Amino acid sequence: MEILQHGPLASPGFETPAIDLVRPKLSDRDFARLGEFISGTIGVKMPEAKRSLLESRLLKRLRALNLRSFEEYCDSLFGGFSADETVHMIDLVVTNKTDFFREPGHFENLTERVLPELVSAGAGTERPLTVWSAGCSSGEEPYTLAMILKEFGEGLKRFDFQVLGTDISTRALAKASAGIYEEAKISPVPMDLRRKYLLRSRDSSRGLVKISPELGSHVRFRRLNLMDEDWDLGGEADIIFCRNVIIYFNRETQEALFRKFSGRLSKGGYIFIGHSETLNGFDLPLDKAAPTVYRKM
Ligand SMILES: C[S@@+](CC[C@H](N)C(=O)[O-])C[C@H]1O[C@@H](n2cnc3c(N)ncnc32)[C@H](O)[C@@H]1O
Repeated sequence: MEILQHGPLASPGFETPAIDLVRPKLSDRDFARLGEFISGTIGVKMPEAKRSLLESRLLKRLRALNLRSFEEYCDSLFGGFSADETVHMIDLVVTNKTDFFREPGHFENLTERVLPELVSAGAGTERPLTVWSAGCSSGEEPYTLAMILKEFGEGLKRFDFQVLGTDISTRALAKASAGIYEEAKISPVPMDLRRKYLLRSRDSSRGLVKISPELGSHVRFRRLNLMDEDWDLGGEADIIFCRNVIIYFNRETQEALFRKFSGRLSKGGYIFIGHSETLNGFDLPLDKAAPTVYRKM
């Protein structure tokens, strides 16, 4: 006969003290101080609607650091101000959603209108054409740009370009630099471009693809906080893509940022923003060339 045992000695699977099951809550005070710090440091707004998202994402840090409350977390973050912890926290609070060929109309516009115009003014032929993907996340946007530019250059005798991808998130940048993606991620990449610019893993069961070294040689990545005073990026860019980044910033920060972008753009250069973003109402030296596409005057 099977004997069912009860009591503390016979509870397999229940070894963790029950107290750990009580999920810490983010108080009004800690939410306010974290929100102020995040928007002050990286520009990203933290409205009330984002409280539970922030709470669940930062819970991972509490667990990793063996802390029992958000108060302890905030006290150690702000008290001893740890630069390392700030990097971890930022990695968790930013939204890194991106795709290859995201908002594909922009890439058509680039090939059909923007590149022929810039090339006729000497960019890419008399000097390398430079593109900056600001807020590049895990690299899908800059690699898409590199594919478009490679394809465009095939029809020309000489065409040289460089793409720079920058982001605040170290986690996203590590993925971008590795240039390795799950196969499901490359579904928006046209088949002929996959053949030319993506390498399949030898072990097909891993379901991974890698950016080809040749394409990768045109793209470099750097960590950059767009809120930093000094960007220290070298020369001007011919094209800036800053898509689906400012949507998380307040209007004042958006305008200041695009004034800075305008200063970084060569005369006649172009800025592309996300489809749900707008520069309407800002006083900037930019002409609207198409919806979400602007040209420096
Ligand atoms: C939603 S992704 C957009 C990626 C890509 N541009 C696209 O449209 O697919 C937004 C990116 O902006 C970055 N970001 C947010 N605040 C930033 C800041 N202050 N400086 C630099 N990058 C920032 C995030 O880390 C994230 O990778």
